Amino acid sequence: MEKLIESVKKSFEKKFNRKPVVIASPGRINLIGEHTDYNEGFVLPGATDRVIILAIAPREDRRCRFYSVDFDQDFETDLSHLQKSQLRWPDYLQGVIDQFLKAGYMIKGVDVAFGGNVPIGGGMSSSAAVEGGMAFALNHLFQLNLDLLTLTRLAQKAENEFVGVRCGIMDMFANLHGQPKKVLKIDCRSLAYEYYPFEREDVRVVISDTGVRRELASSEYNVRRQQCEEGVRLLQQHYPEIKSLRDVDLTMLENHRSEFDPVVWMRCAYVVKENQRVNLACQDLLKGDLVTFGQKMYQSHAGLRDEYEVSSPELNLLVESASRIPGVYGSRMMGAGFGGCTISLVEAQAVELFKEKVSADYRKETGKDPTIHVVMIEAGTRILEE
Ligand code: GLA
Repeated sequence: MEKLIESVKKSFEKKFNRKPVVIASPGRINLIGEHTDYNEGFVLPGATDRVIILAIAPREDRRCRFYSVDFDQDFETDLSHLQKSQLRWPDYLQGVIDQFLKAGYMIKGVDVAFGGNVPIGGGMSSSAAVEGGMAFALNHLFQLNLDLLTLTRLAQKAENEFVGVRCGIMDMFANLHGQPKKVLKIDCRSLAYEYYPFEREDVRVVISDTGVRRELASSEYNVRRQQCEEGVRLLQQHYPEIKSLRDVDLTMLENHRSEFDPVVWMRCAYVVKENQRVNLACQDLLKGDLVTFGQKMYQSHAGLRDEYEVSSPELNLLVESASRIPGVYGSRMMGAGFGGCTISLVEAQAVELFKEKVSADYRKETGKDPTIHVVMIEAGTRILEE
């Protein structure tokens, strides 16, 4: 990480000829609770040691100058001319500025250089890391005194409105609220959250990246959201008090099954069961029972594959391969799905075997190597230097 920080800082100083504030903004993992956030359910994410580094300084005028170290590309605009860019990466920064302006916060232009080691589009929320980091930076530079929840909401709205992806709140929440060796159970309705210890020295969090990036992800994501909304509308005719799938249980679903489109029913059943799994999995964590916890990860994967239908052959292959290795507690696809990565909980001493076997199986079937990252649960977005 030292090298990364130095390289982003140097790039900033060379481009803009001044000293920046340096901020680390992490990618996230999610142990369990997938596609539950936008249904006002539960999730169990944490921030990681994979970060986006932002070097940033305020300006006296309204100009904004951005430099992406990873793409070696520049972008310039000003506060009155924010609009989507062909380059795409500037939108994550512009989107956040746009939200701050819309909310009426007093900001000026900024110079930014950024780069990182969160796999881009790989299911660890590199975009939320840029947005959360930018929201945190603007708050700090312009002394706005906003709390983390407000910053979380601003970052999410940037993605929803400027970038145009209807994501839930989990990614930005974990990015800004993460703590070392802890995961967060977030109630995505009330936004109350609790930290759960995750500090077993003998266990590693292993992320296996398929390398597959599918455009389908965002269109299908929106379709899933609509299907959940459709299920809620149908059940509301019988249970007017229901506001989201959070309020639904399996008995309600069973009682009205015949009125449902079968696909919509299956989607809703997945969400209801996944919420139950998150609640139970938190108890497993408290007991230190990773065996039972891991089984819920496999069940979550099966649900995402068969009921929610957001997995892919590559993701299934990685999970099946992981499940055959002694010392693996659990494994499942992570994030929106279709491409991206899996998360596995692996005994520290089995990590080398995991890398070897999973890579070999993946290579045999696809002809390609997966990228395997062992990640640590770390603090959320923070200032490194000012
Ligand atoms: C993406 C979204 C999140 C969440 C997950 C699925 O990462 O950004 O809000 O919905 O997919 O759990």
